[in-house]
Amino acid sequence: MSANHTPFIFFYTHQETENLLINWIKSTIPSAKTSYRRKGWISFKVSLDDYHLIFKKNFFCPLALRWGSGHSPIKNLDQENLQFIVNLAHVQKVEHIHIWGEYSSELLKTIFQDEKYKTFKINEIIPLNEKSLNIYCPMENEFPVGIHTHNGNQSPYTEANPNIELPLEAPSRSYLKMAELDLLHGLKWKEGDTILELGSAPGGISYYLCNKKFHVFSVDPGLPSDILFHFPNYSYLRASTQQLTTENLNIQNDVDWIISDMNLSAPQVLHEIIRAESLLKKPIEGMIMTCKFLKDEDSVKINEISKTIKKWKPSKKISTYFLFSHGKECVLVLD
Ligand SMILES: C[S@@+](CC[C@H](N)C(=O)[O-])C[C@H]1O[C@@H](n2cnc3c(N)ncnc32)[C@H](O)[C@@H]1O
Repeated sequence: MSANHTPFIFFYTHQETENLLINWIKSTIPSAKTSYRRKGWISFKVSLDDYHLIFKKNFFCPLALRWGSGHSPIKNLDQENLQFIVNLAHVQKVEHIHIWGEYSSELLKTIFQDEKYKTFKINEIIPLNEKSLNIYCPMENEFPVGIHTHNGNQSPYTEANPNIELPLEAPSRSYLKMAELDLLHGLKWKEGDTILELGSAPGGISYYLCNKKFHVFSVDPGLPSDILFHFPNYSYLRASTQQLTTENLNIQNDVDWIISDMNLSAPQVLHEIIRAESLLKKPIEGMIMTCKFLKDEDSVKINEISKTIKKWKPSKKISTYFLFSHGKECVLVLD
């Protein structure tokens, strides 16, 4: 809990997902009352029980890049406020400080380079289960502060941003989603694995997978980018997933993974993945599906979808992420 014992929690998300996040919080954490809101950073006053909820190992918010205990924003970078941050870090046994945002974040990073702060690691990757003190700089003279723990389903990078570069020739920004997920999750696939990709056009994800030397069999009614046809390990079927049959799913190798980025509702995506697997010669090793938040209430249903997946493949593990490169969606991995 915060040094002043006030049960505040913070969540950080993209600006475009702020309203969805607030809806999710209101339906999931009934005691939450919005307290402070600036450019993706939202803090809430909560009951003590709900305060503890967000620190549970299995807590996951499908719309937040990070969450943790929140503190009143600092209004300037004077000695007293800097001392407050140092004291907070000591009380909470935090070594890592993450600083980001449009205003004064460079100045703040420079201040923390001073000898007297040398015990702190600034903007480094946080090891699993360690905490970081987050200082966001969304406005002139306004610095909301929060402490979060890297529990495996929150990114360990500053602002949750792994700074992956999008290759110029990548057919779409979806390349970033797969690269980021691979980095965060450590996907257990092997070079040469065969992947059935549903909803693949224009082909950012296919491009990532082809470069990783996977055999990619992609399916979409929309055409993929020409660049993909230069890869000998790429095949494409122009069809919707509902049209797949054992005949047109003419894949030489056994399929190891199914990936879906179809812009259908998540229950429908899962239904199509399960049906596609039933057309294959053997059960798949792993599955990745993006869950699009087409309607406000979709994010609240993620837990139900995870339960259905668990019944389908009880021996596999489900992991869920909201990625820096995500828009209104999260991703489920089964492996
Ligand atoms: C978000 S885009 C996919 C972007 C793609 N993953 C990439 O890397 O560029 C969603 C795609 O799902 C496809 N889609 C929607 N419904 C589908 C269905 N029933 N079967 C197959 N593809 C579908 C759309 O045609 C669209 O190309």
